[in-house]
Formats: sequence, structure tokens, C-alpha cells
Amino acid sequence: MPLDTFFKNLWNDYTRLAPQAKAIHQLFRQTYQCPVINDHVAFRTFGRSPLSIDRLEPLLASIGYLPCDEYHFEQKKLFARSYVHPSPTSPLIFLSELNWWQLSPPSQAIISEIIARIPENAASNISVFWEGLQWPVIHWNNYQQLETDSEYAAWLSAHGLHANHFTVSVNALPAGTQIAHVTELLRINGYPLNQAGGEIKGSESDQLMQASTLAPDIPVQFANAVTQNIPGCYYEFAQRFTTPNGELFKGFVPASADKIFESTDRSKAQ
Ligand code: NI
Repeated sequence: MPLDTFFKNLWNDYTRLAPQAKAIHQLFRQTYQCPVINDHVAFRTFGRSPLSIDRLEPLLASIGYLPCDEYHFEQKKLFARSYVHPSPTSPLIFLSELNWWQLSPPSQAIISEIIARIPENAASNISVFWEGLQWPVIHWNNYQQLETDSEYAAWLSAHGLHANHFTVSVNALPAGTQIAHVTELLRINGYPLNQAGGEIKGSESDQLMQASTLAPDIPVQFANAVTQNIPGCYYEFAQRFTTPNGELFKGFVPASADKIFESTDRSKAQ
């Protein structure tokens, strides 16, 4: 599949879960009068499952993405791997997975049941990245149980596999644009931002500064025709700095990423 088709499919799916991203994308085009380029696209999945990072990786390899770095988030019980494409204008891809076997026994039981319903060959077509649930819709009370342990677990169980966020490259905006200008523009236009760990996470010495919106609630169908409003997807903004060897930093900063994950927390919703 051509790369631009892959990202177009992802964007169409993502903006259904994050209608605000479409509006912000438009706002940036109007304000900056330039194309809005992606820094990275991130996904969430279940470890030890037919959709684990190791099972998804060959699909990314089929479109030219190669593993780059690995990250551990002990407190959130997550593992992540980043992927780069040889074409320097292609966004990075960030896959994270939940170490669900480290959750409480009731949450483990719910997720074991979900994973048992995922077809063994679920990761055989690249469209799995925008197809959402590969298991039956969950019960609302199970969502509530999961979120007591892990907001990530609740989000993933309710939505399935999607681009969890796209990220605007601040570096690709007109020269001199700083991430603080971007957050100011968002504030003026009424978009609530994730304040966990500060509105702008990371510093120039980390070589990466990031900010993100708080995922607005969207209606989601649960079992027995129950519909509830829960956080959908959010939009992220990243400004990268040059490393001592003169190249733009291509990594992620674990302490910042840890806080960015909280952009879908119901407890943070406004
Ligand atoms: Ni991100």
C-alpha cells in the first residue's frame, strides 16, 4: 500500500474519533498558510495478544518502517517502540502496548476475555490499524472496572485499534514558530490542553517539546445497546531540536510521553 494511502486511511478514521483535529488542522492552514506536516502517529494495543507490537511490526515493515527505539512506562504498565521510515519527510510511528497481566485480577480477567476473542490472524492486513474493535463491544461496567486500574486499558477496550493521535510538526510551520505560539493559538480558539506535567512538556535540553489537547468526549456504543460519552482521540504538537551531531532529534522523552498518555483520561476531562 502506498504510504500516502496508509496515512489517508488513518486520518479519515482518526478524525471520526477526533473531529476537533480536523478543525485544528484547518485553523493551522489558515493561520500559517502552509501544509500541516505530521511529526508522528501513535497507536495503542494489548501486549501478549494477536495484536501485540511484535505481531503488528511486520505490517509496518511492509510499508518500509523499521524499529528505532524502545521505551518502558513502569507506572502505566506500558511498553513502546518507535519506527522510522527511510524517507525523511515521513512521520515517525509510535506503538505502545499494555502489560495487562500486571493489572488487578478483575481487570486481567476482562482483558483475557477480550484477547480470547481476537482472531489469531488479526494482524494479517494493514487495514487493522484503522479498523477499530477486533472483539465484541464491551460492557459499560467492565469499562468502569478497567478505568479504576488503567485509563489506557479502558480506552483501548472501548475503541480498539486506531491512530490514537496525530502530531503536528511545529518545525514544519513557518520559520521561527515556537510551540508556545501554537499553544497560545489553541487557547485563544478555546481548545482545552492537557495540563499534566505542565502545558508544554520537555525542554530544549530534552531536544523535544510537546503539548496536546485533551481528548473531547464522543458517544461510544457499549454492550446491550448502551451508549456513553467517553474520551475519543486527541491532537499533539511537537517541536524538535538539533542534536550535537547536527541532526534533528528523532527520539521520544519518556517523562513527557508518560504525561501525554493522560490526554484521554476521563478524570482530566473538562
Ligand atoms: Ni505522541
